[in-house]
Amino acid sequence: MIDQLIGSKEIQSKVVEIGRQIEQDYVGKDLLMVCVLKGAIFFYADLIRCISLPFVLDFIVVSSRDGEISGDIQIIKGLKGNLTDKHILIIEDIIDTGKTLRHIIDDFSTRSPASIKTCCLLDKPSRREVDIEPDYVGFEVEDKFLVGYGLDLNENHRNLPYIGVISA
Ligand code: IMP
Ligand code: MG
Repeated sequence: MIDQLIGSKEIQSKVVEIGRQIEQDYVGKDLLMVCVLKGAIFFYADLIRCISLPFVLDFIVVSSRDGEISGDIQIIKGLKGNLTDKHILIIEDIIDTGKTLRHIIDDFSTRSPASIKTCCLLDKPSRREVDIEPDYVGFEVEDKFLVGYGLDLNENHRNLPYIGVISA
């Protein structure tokens, strides 16, 4: 059984709200919006369609051990090309311990971007192990394992239109 925690209408209005903030903050900047696959796929697709600024989109794939979260982190597919003077905005589904985002930021930082910011649909602050706060956050959530709207449990449930909690 999956209990709905955040409904699809609630998600969509939050996405519009975040899109408006991003639009205001990046006027006139050379923006690169990076989707962290696979989890951020729907959030990213919905968010970028709320932003009418010119920007470049790209995707990265970060490893995670099957069925686990926060294992040894590795960028399997990174960004090609020059990041010099680009304003990078990393779009992630959820920030948990913070290790994934930390790893990605440290990797991009070596390539002289103008700025690096992060945008997470969900934030589990109680689980944080590294000192990192996302710049844009959709919803703060409790320490429960969530699925849907891109989030998976062993690759299942990503296609749910809402975010839910697995119950017994
Ligand atoms: P972190 O490195 O611990 O911050 O973990 C972030 C990654 O763990 C996210 O990108 C997700 O892929 C995964 N993750 C963390 N919490 C959940 C959850 O509740 N459901 C599904 N995936 C999660
Ligand atoms: Mg993820």
